[in-house]
This record gives sequence, C-alpha cells and structure tokens, in this order.
Amino acid sequence: MRRLDQLLSSLGYCSRKQAQAWCDAGRVWVAGAPLDDASRKVDPAQVKLDDAPLDFPDGLFVLLHKPVGLVCSHDSGEGPRVYDLLPQRWQQRDPKVTTIGRLDKDTSGLLLLTDQGALVQRLTSPKHHVEKVYLATLDRAPTPEMSEAFARGLELTEDGERVKTRPAALRVLEGNRAEVTLHEGRYHQVRRMFAALGAHVVSLERTRLGEWTLGDLPPGRWKALPLPCSLSPAGERVGERG
Ligand code: URA
Repeated sequence: MRRLDQLLSSLGYCSRKQAQAWCDAGRVWVAGAPLDDASRKVDPAQVKLDDAPLDFPDGLFVLLHKPVGLVCSHDSGEGPRVYDLLPQRWQQRDPKVTTIGRLDKDTSGLLLLTDQGALVQRLTSPKHHVEKVYLATLDRAPTPEMSEAFARGLELTEDGERVKTRPAALRVLEGNRAEVTLHEGRYHQVRRMFAALGAHVVSLERTRLGEWTLGDLPPGRWKALPLPCSLSPAGERVGERG
C-alpha cells in the first residue's frame, strides 16, 4: 500500500500537490470508487486515473530495438537519446529508468531498460555470465584464426592498463559477417577486439541478451516485459516513438 500522491508522483504522472487537485476533480478512482483524499494509502493495482490503470506501478522492464544514431546517455547534449523513444512520462519516474548496460551510438539492436536497480545489477554483473550476442559486419572476411583469438581472450588497453578479455565465441558467417558471443561488457568491446586483430567493424547489432531476443520488433519500437520475480505480472505492450 502506498500514499496515492506519492505513488502518482513517483510514476511520473504529476506533483504530489497536483494529485490532490486530480482527486478533487474526480479523476482518481480506487477499487471502483472515487478517491477524495490524495494522502490515503492505496493498492497501486486498484488505482485508475481517467479510467485507465497506472503504468507499471511495480516497476518497468522494457525491451527496445535501438536504432543506429541514438545514445544511451541521459544527457541530451550527447545527441538524440534512446529515452526519447519511450513515453515522456517515464522520464519523470523515480527511481529513474536506465539502460541495462549500454550500446554505442553506432550500434543497433537489443537494449533492456528498467527502473529496478537490482535487475541492472543482476544482468550486468560479470558474476552472472549473462550472454550477449552480436552480429558484426567487418571490412574483411572473418577467419578461424580470429575465432581462436576470441576464444583465448585478447589483450586490450583500458585506462592505460592491459586487460585480458574473457573467452568469447566468434562464429564465422557468410560474407564479411560474424556472430560474437560475450560474457562481459567492456567499453566498445566488440569493435576493439576486432581492431586488435586488424579488422574494422562496419556495422554492429546486438541480437540477444540472456534469454531475450529482438524477435520481429522493428527498430525504434519497444515492448514492456514481465518483471522477473515481480509482485504482479505486467502485461506485454508494444509502443513506438513519442
Ligand atoms: N561492443 C561494441 O563495440 N559496441 C557496443 O555497443 C557493444 C559491444
């Protein structure tokens, strides 16, 4: 149970003060009856605002097909952001909605977002070995020697120090394409691993993260996923820009 005014403000609907005005206007109903006092404790699942249930009151978990050209940063000074593809109200949520790991501006594909810190921790911690699968197109044909080097681990420079990547799988595909599976997420890792072997990544798409795949979700579109271990199941919804 949560105070209605706190609930609406944490889900990004309005300020706590405005919540009382919305109650006064008869816009807020709980369990089939209008609510007149915004300080009352309510069951979030029972609340309706303008006849619609609240957006994911137990937490958000979203799969987005990131197009090339968008950044995962919250800072709009770095260019158009993946957050701009989500409903505007979600940007006012507290806890904040963040990406689970990042993709480069020039990388497309599967991106997960959530407001649940524990989920970010669970899916990004190297301890949990969550697989990330990428489809890379190179400026040359990938070779079996590259696969061996990926499997052994490659030395990269990070903050002036040499670090060795964990064993990764590289599957040679037709043409100049390769499928890469990583168990960690270092900055620009796929591009830097190929660069260490003298190859340039022309395009890069993430196709899978753990158990989640893009399916037929088009670039720029998102869908809400059920929260793992959530208190109440969230339905699947498909959305688009704006
Ligand atoms: N590796 C990269 O080089 N870029 C990404 O966005 C993800 C993995």
